[in-house]
Amino acid sequence: MANIEYDPQRQLFHLHNATFSYIIQVIRGYLVKRYCGPALEQFSGTAKLEDFSHAFNIQNDAAPFSLTTLPLEYSTLMGGDYRTPAYAVRNAHGQLIGNLKFHDFQILAGNENFNGTLPTARTPNGQTLIITMHDETDTLAVHLKYTIVGDLPVLLKQVAYRNLSDNTLTITHAASLQLDFDDHAYDLITLTGAHLSEASVTRQPLTPGKKSIASNYGASGPQGVPATILAAPATDDFAGEALGVTLLWSGNFNYTAQVDQFGNSRLVMGLNPELFSWQLKPGKPFVTPEAAVAYTTKGLNDLSHIFHQFFANHVMPVPRRNLIEYNTWESTYFDVSEAKVLAEIPKAEALGVELIVVDDGWFKNRPNDAGQLGDWVPDPVKFPRGLRPVADALHARGLAFGLWVEPEMISENSELYAAHPDWAMQYVGQKPLRSRNQLVLDLSQRIVQDHLIAVLTDLVRTNHIDYLKWDYNRHFSQPGSPVLPPDQQGEVGYRYTRGLYRVLKTLRDTFPKLIIENCSSGGGRLDGGMLAYTDQTWTSDFTDPVYRMKIMNGFSLFFPLKTFVSHFTMSPNLQDSRVTPLRTRALLSLVGVTGIECPPSQLSPAEAAAVKASFAFYKANRAELQNGSLYRLHPSHPNQDQVCWLITDEAKTKAIVLTSAGVIAPIPHYQHVLLHYLRPTMSYQINDKKTATGAELNFAGVTLPLAHGDFSATLMTLQAVSHLPQTTTQANGDIAKLPF
Ligand code: DGJ
Repeated sequence: MANIEYDPQRQLFHLHNATFSYIIQVIRGYLVKRYCGPALEQFSGTAKLEDFSHAFNIQNDAAPFSLTTLPLEYSTLMGGDYRTPAYAVRNAHGQLIGNLKFHDFQILAGNENFNGTLPTARTPNGQTLIITMHDETDTLAVHLKYTIVGDLPVLLKQVAYRNLSDNTLTITHAASLQLDFDDHAYDLITLTGAHLSEASVTRQPLTPGKKSIASNYGASGPQGVPATILAAPATDDFAGEALGVTLLWSGNFNYTAQVDQFGNSRLVMGLNPELFSWQLKPGKPFVTPEAAVAYTTKGLNDLSHIFHQFFANHVMPVPRRNLIEYNTWESTYFDVSEAKVLAEIPKAEALGVELIVVDDGWFKNRPNDAGQLGDWVPDPVKFPRGLRPVADALHARGLAFGLWVEPEMISENSELYAAHPDWAMQYVGQKPLRSRNQLVLDLSQRIVQDHLIAVLTDLVRTNHIDYLKWDYNRHFSQPGSPVLPPDQQGEVGYRYTRGLYRVLKTLRDTFPKLIIENCSSGGGRLDGGMLAYTDQTWTSDFTDPVYRMKIMNGFSLFFPLKTFVSHFTMSPNLQDSRVTPLRTRALLSLVGVTGIECPPSQLSPAEAAAVKASFAFYKANRAELQNGSLYRLHPSHPNQDQVCWLITDEAKTKAIVLTSAGVIAPIPHYQHVLLHYLRPTMSYQINDKKTATGAELNFAGVTLPLAHGDFSATLMTLQAVSHLPQTTTQANGDIAKLPF
């Protein structure tokens, strides 16, 4: 149970639960981070702060400390601290407001959400600390919010500003968190990428200077995920210290890791200051996105496990069973129709499909990607009777009906654009810059948000829709709002993302059972903010199973298994023309939320048998494959592009080892893999045959089947047999009998 203690003598705040402590002290009025790490019962301050002044130190009230070496909680430039600032607010003189000092604090029950439309983690039984700081002229109040999440070693941070003066203040930088360290003995781990190659992992030592990952695309973007890890150099997946940070935010962001002149380091994360500014009117608040900090001494798998629990249990919509899907996109592209979908229903059902999703192309004037986004009216030729016949046919068989939409976009040839050209984001007097032939709706306008809420509510209600695939296929180029005054144009990005959350939240509240799949040409907007309002994410448009597995492996640093949608796809693959063995296509689509992109009616008999068997296996093991714990394993003699996962239930009574073997090595090698995370004293039956203890499997490991040819895949099941009735092995499904 999380707790917050305050020692008035030392002005010391101790936030802790059974696993984690975070300690802040007010020193000469400044807010100083004293500790972040494993839970402490007490803190006496044996590790002292550096209390001497450096040459040319700025002389302020902090003496004998130097503000530029103190590990501060939240600071700005030009007050004595020269490190990367967490905020920049200018007063009526156009000058920076600095020297924030402790003013007061409050301890509240639960997670005090500063602003109902921004995503926030659920921590119903916790406590929240709000520390308020003022500048010396009492112009600006800054409220720092801290909450520990349940029993997890996770700390939420969020910041609110309030204008105490009679003049408008200008915010040009407003980070969600600052974390200072008195050394820089860390590697920085980042996820970057592009469309079709999301979540590429880079690990590099912190060195003097700054390293930033940012987005000014309007969305978090495949170019960088707003989440990063600082890991001790020796830390690997299985051991060592690591601290991870993520934002619950889907718009422009920046994080910067800096090593300063003294070898100390600082991490600042939040909104991207590049395109941002905010006019803070007298008496008004401004709230940053929420950030989450996770900590472990047990390696990157443990840190990932903490993040997975955090997102699955505290951020994502309440768990429910996601459905095995047939999606029409790779079957028909834009040429989808009622007749084609109806013809596939019995075949899809026979494979074990539970949901059919009509992807792009269903609405009028959409033969290709040149139009007509915004109107959302079924094409009279492709769907002459509207969408209901498809929905009804599916529901009559107990299957669910899903529809693709791209609500945030508008085509200039739409009726919506003809009626409301001022609803598109634009720069005054400049030609619109299109991408994929479309413009972005200005969701910073409440009227546009209300329009989307009305249209989508009607669409879902009228057509009995169970699932929406919410796509977003272009980034901002001219982030101007026709309705905001000139000095507020820097607010568009923030207002847009907040407006998007309002639309999503309203829909979720109206249709609690509606499944929403997050998609931005794949995993281009997979972040903590979208996870708060969506159930699953189309991981990548790169549907080659081998590379999708690599992409998911990158995302798995932060996001839980149930986030990832992985479908059985065609071979040769439609993106890279790679021919992949049938067994690999079937096995590697089993993780997360499975489904199929190929037309069921056009599968070969061997493909149909493989898909049917893998869906049956998925159903028998859905709890683990969709909601289980995921750990990255490292076989000996790793091949290029190899990925190996252990997937278990919480109690570790069932386990699955899934390996994508990658490009085969020239010299054949048996590969051994240690399973690390099974219960040592438990006995496990492997693939329903041999039995071994968890200890042996963890420390001596198992041998993977010898790979033959490139891009093979293997699957091993383990069932705990001690303390459990033998009959449970039946539910495991017999992978040896799968026909592929
Ligand atoms: C991009 C998505 O990632 C695809 O799956 C598909 O829905 C297309 N958009 C449709 O335009």
